[in-house]
Amino acid sequence: MSRRPIGIVVNGVTGRMGYRQHLLRSLLAIREQGGLPAAGGTRIWPEPVLVGRSEARLAAITERHGLTDWTTDLGAALARHDVEIYFDAQVTQQREKAISAAIEAGKHVYTEKPLAEDVAGAMELLRLARAAGIRHGVVQDKLFLPGIRKLKRLIDGGFFGRILSVRGEFGYWVFEGDWQPAQRPSWNYRAADGGGIVMDMFPHWEYVLEQLFAPVRAVNCVTATHIPTRVDEAGQPYEATAHDAAYAIFELDGGIVAQINSSWAVRVHRDELVEFQVDGTDGSAVAGLRECRIQHRATTPKPVWNPDLPATDNFRAQWQPVPDNEEFDNGFKVQWEAFLRHVVDGTPFPWDFTAAARGVQLAELALRSAAEGRRVEVPELAP
Ligand SMILES: NC(=O)c1ccc[n+]([C@@H]2O[C@H](COP(=O)([O-])OP(=O)(O)OC[C@H]3O[C@@H](n4cnc5c(N)ncnc54)[C@H](O)[C@@H]3O)[C@@H](O)[C@H]2O)c1
Repeated sequence: MSRRPIGIVVNGVTGRMGYRQHLLRSLLAIREQGGLPAAGGTRIWPEPVLVGRSEARLAAITERHGLTDWTTDLGAALARHDVEIYFDAQVTQQREKAISAAIEAGKHVYTEKPLAEDVAGAMELLRLARAAGIRHGVVQDKLFLPGIRKLKRLIDGGFFGRILSVRGEFGYWVFEGDWQPAQRPSWNYRAADGGGIVMDMFPHWEYVLEQLFAPVRAVNCVTATHIPTRVDEAGQPYEATAHDAAYAIFELDGGIVAQINSSWAVRVHRDELVEFQVDGTDGSAVAGLRECRIQHRATTPKPVWNPDLPATDNFRAQWQPVPDNEEFDNGFKVQWEAFLRHVVDGTPFPWDFTAAARGVQLAELALRSAAEGRRVEVPELAP
């Protein structure tokens, strides 16, 4: 079977997402499985060109993984004819200008979310991408998580009847960095560096809500910076100027109400770091990253409110696990495979810059809602 090599600039490859999820778990994993079967019996073979700022760190990564191609010169990488795709996993603030340059160089573009720091920037990239006729996509990894795929299966199978509400709980304790190192980069907690939980997480909530349930028509959001001072990677205290928690209510088409708490200042008393409870007239489900549990109308117990008696029901035991029934590969890899086929074979890829812009829009409107202390409607994005 012949190989179809495809040069891919991976920018931001020294970062958490760029290295682990995109290089190791996706692109190199595709090579380890012998390439990606494509039309005409060929196998798509990713050829990563690592781009970053630090020669030493890039050289260390290439050496560790038997690669050879790296550079600190993005312009030179984009000028290469064997490079067809630009991928961006840099800090969010650097994204817009790098993607503009990639589009200008005629490359197809795949990127981490959020596409840009505001809607105007996202729409401009969409306009440029369309004008250049390139293929474009954004990471929407949560859609490919086993728990969310099982939830989608339940929705598609009509399990819920009429869906009433969604309750999402996301978060965990991110250490302040003083007596234990923080497990997230410090730029996440500085507004001036593009940090903040709303721009980080609401693009995810937008596509999860829109693609599983219905489009979001209005948002009401309260934000907080619960931990005002943190300690950075160099051990220096800094003022945390970005929000570390957001409590939002989303109104969806069809009267569905979704509430999602997002927090880096919460301790986990859940089964997974994110969980969505969906209640419908015929049944309910709780979906996490991997697991999904259901309770059908017919097996719903009848609790009676009586604070004078100790609780005797084991409520968690009253739910049934949804079986896997299929193998779930890494979500980032599954989406990479779809994007590579989109570029090489022209297969459909719905997670494009239009979808990306909707995510940025919802984050921006949630921030407005919080700043102005009011409910904000979500208009259709003008194409
Ligand atoms: N899909 C997801 O679930 C998910 C999860 C976390 C982060 N992200 C997104 O991925 C992106 C990277 O996040 P991360 O957590 O990997 O961050 P990170 O800080 O670990 O990595 C950032 C990368 O950008 C590079 N970088 C930092 N400052 C730069 C600058 N001034 N100029 C050029 N490059 C710079 C770093 O060297 C590093 O390679 C963000 O846009 C974030 O929103 C997505």
